[in-house]
Amino acid sequence: MIEDSSRCLMNTYNRFPVVLRKGRGLKVWSSDGKEYLDFLSGVAVNVLGHCHPKVVISIQKQAQRLIHVSNYFHIEPQIKLARILVENSFADRVFFCNSGAEANEAAIKLSRKYFSDQPGHKRFEIITALNSFHGRTIAALSATGQEKFRKGFEPLVPGFRHVEFNDIDAVEKAITKDTCAVLLEPIQGEGGVKIPDPDYLREARELCDRHGILLILDEVQTGIGRTGKFFAYEHFGVTPDIMTIAKGLGGGVPIGAMLATEKVSAAFQPGTHASTFGGNPLVCAAAATTLEVLLEDGFLLDQCRRMGVYLKKGLEDLKKEFPSIIANVRGMGLLVGMELVRDGAPIVKACMDRGVLINCTAGNVLRFMPPLIVTEKEIDHLLDVLGQVFDRTP
Ligand SMILES: Cc1ncc(COP(=O)(O)O)c(C=O)c1O
Repeated sequence: MIEDSSRCLMNTYNRFPVVLRKGRGLKVWSSDGKEYLDFLSGVAVNVLGHCHPKVVISIQKQAQRLIHVSNYFHIEPQIKLARILVENSFADRVFFCNSGAEANEAAIKLSRKYFSDQPGHKRFEIITALNSFHGRTIAALSATGQEKFRKGFEPLVPGFRHVEFNDIDAVEKAITKDTCAVLLEPIQGEGGVKIPDPDYLREARELCDRHGILLILDEVQTGIGRTGKFFAYEHFGVTPDIMTIAKGLGGGVPIGAMLATEKVSAAFQPGTHASTFGGNPLVCAAAATTLEVLLEDGFLLDQCRRMGVYLKKGLEDLKKEFPSIIANVRGMGLLVGMELVRDGAPIVKACMDRGVLINCTAGNVLRFMPPLIVTEKEIDHLLDVLGQVFDRTP
């Protein structure tokens, strides 16, 4: 299988030499029967763990009823999902697509279209942050503030300015008569779990209001309960004009969404934007069930906050034990990073050999983003394995 994978697939990923075949809760099993505890969750996707029974049944039932019809018709699960999202967020309207990058494409287009519809000067420029990540499609890549992802794909889409993250003066200085929006991740995930100062997003909101421009929040990684609130903006006391989500939304199936206020949404009319698969019955049924389980009496969001505190405390204790390896621990809810003073890849590999899946981003930041159903016992196991690995690290 691995030979065929290397031969037939485009060489876009550094894959571990393991075929994962089955999953349940926090556990996944490889084709050779080895069991792993998954603190990666398909990169912050499986918020309810692998193959949550309610999501599985929802997919099965919907697959028997209707899989795809197109957006020329009203679609029951899509309407249900949109209703859950607008009832539980700042937004009035939703556009469905298939990934985080596509959600950001939609947000970029909506913010430009919003100003192009207004009389007078056409604003088009978007300010984003250095070290940000917004996806790999060409406009999302142009928004992304990391050279390593952009290199080789120039010329990129014009109209993006990058400024230092968590520096509100830098945002203010970058605003010109052409600026239409400021696009930010509430927490930079791929960039190394970077959390801004508590006032940063509120000040960005105020700046946008003062200049009459839009605030777009990319919650592709932070949304859907990951930080202990349904959306991360709730921690910061702000609401955006536009928000993008994906990852956790479908409980594992590919779906993205762009949400906006009524005023801003009005810039999209029939024919201005579309996606053949966007909001398809199958994925929307899975997503609606995922959100129902997640939001049911607030239990899982509360669990996420409690387990996040527990995990961070355990990692802090490891930092005290291994000060020459660990520089910093930071995070919110179950999006937690541990910055090392060395390359993180060998640590990820050593954890994997011991049956625990974790991730490393930005070269030296171990990133932990388990399903929100994770238990203290499972976190204890991770901490135990990390301790063993650090102990053997020269
Ligand atoms: C903040 C953020 N935006 C956008 C994306 C792109 O999402 P996708 O890979 O679904 O296109 C990611 C993916 O990691 C992300 O973390």
